[in-house]
Amino acid sequence: MNQASVRATTGRLQQPYRRLLRRRGSALRADDLDASHGTILYLEDITVSFDGFKALNALTLYVDAGELRCIIGPNGAGKTTMMDVITGKTRPDHGSAWFGQTIDLLALDEPEIAQSGIGRKFQRPTVFENHSVFENLELAMAGDRSPWKLLAAKLSGEQRDSIEQTLQLVGLKDRSGARAGSLSHGQKQWLEIGMLLMQRPRLLLVDEPVAGMTPQETERTAELLLSLAGERSVIVVEHDMDFVRSIARTVTVLHEGSVLAEGTIDQVQNDPRVVEVYLGE
Ligand SMILES: Nc1ncnc2c1ncn2[C@@H]1O[C@H](COP(=O)(O)OP(=O)(O)OP(=O)(O)O)[C@@H](O)[C@H]1O
Ligand SMILES: [Mg+2]
Repeated sequence: MNQASVRATTGRLQQPYRRLLRRRGSALRADDLDASHGTILYLEDITVSFDGFKALNALTLYVDAGELRCIIGPNGAGKTTMMDVITGKTRPDHGSAWFGQTIDLLALDEPEIAQSGIGRKFQRPTVFENHSVFENLELAMAGDRSPWKLLAAKLSGEQRDSIEQTLQLVGLKDRSGARAGSLSHGQKQWLEIGMLLMQRPRLLLVDEPVAGMTPQETERTAELLLSLAGERSVIVVEHDMDFVRSIARTVTVLHEGSVLAEGTIDQVQNDPRVVEVYLGE
């Protein structure tokens, strides 16, 4: 049995799971994720149409637990639309999307998907400019609880440790007290990644992270994303091929809403179909 049908079988058995959670009045939590089969994301046969135009066309893609996956493809290939489907912003006309064995993404709304353990970093950083770097992470920890109440309350030792660890991870330890508005563009991007990490996502989606960054910031971002994989899965969409080369393990090439090629960066860059698509741009 292949991975997909293993998931489909167990998935079906687990279908009433969400209703059960609903009935007992509790929300999904990140630790409800079951990636025990080694795959964290299953997108199967996903089609999204906008006025008859297929932005995604029978897209099938699997991502392993702990993997760092790069997605490339020409403008309009459907990369952002794919992320919109995973996060519940866009509903496909057709197909299935599962997070681990048991979480049916198409049955959840956007906040529920975020709560289940999928974090998304948009291109433009959205930090609280007038708060310190530390406070931004503190606010992010609050999730959907009242953030202002949290700022006023005293942090537990554990919460403080978690913020310190995140500061270390994203390389902003020495900027902890700085006003977020005073950070460089790259530092703001890292802070926002840190804010996402405070929610402990198991899958992180990052759309064009190095756009507008200096070469040094780009290099640092490569290190950061590499260090994040393993403990969680990371999907990176990026046009900067040098950057992709510096982080890529498996690269998926999207074209006209479907997977055109998948493999190592050298495999896909030497694939005549891929070359043709990029030359045609
Ligand atoms: N809300 C929408 N309404 C109509 N068409 C849309 C909508 N969103 C995306 N599209 C179209 O779907 C196609 C795929 O768009 P998408 O943004 O997913 O591409 P992309 O691969 O992210 O491209 P880029 O590299 O330019 O960011 C494009 O032709 C786009 O114009
Ligand atoms: Mg895009």
